[in-house]
Amino acid sequence: TSEENLKVNFINRDGETLTATAKEGESLLELVIRHHLSIDGFGACEGTLACSTCHLIFDQKTFDQLSPITDEEMDMLDLAFGLTKTSRLGCQICMTKALDGITVRVPKDLSDARRDQVEQQSK
Ligand code: FES
Repeated sequence: TSEENLKVNFINRDGETLTATAKEGESLLELVIRHHLSIDGFGACEGTLACSTCHLIFDQKTFDQLSPITDEEMDMLDLAFGLTKTSRLGCQICMTKALDGITVRVPKDLSDARRDQVEQQSK
């Protein structure tokens, strides 16, 4: 189905709430890109699990409904700035009917694992 009948609210870095419509199966990163949501620095690696800029914080109830985390996501998430117990990477979270209407928080700060690597390599 390509119907945009789901809703996601993003609490942006500055505290402003951005609301976007989503399709089933679409990742939260795809959603942010498609709607051109202005979330600073979000999704720098375009969902290839090479950064952690798509770090999002969920409420516990929503977090419990998310698909299980893979080792690859876990490794990258470990590098995210301001990690919480209910953190995930937005590029790995796909929308389902059960997630309709969720509110996710964008952490105030971000770290880009790729940028850190580049900085280290150039030293
Ligand atoms: Fe880079 Fe998700 S966009 S890990």
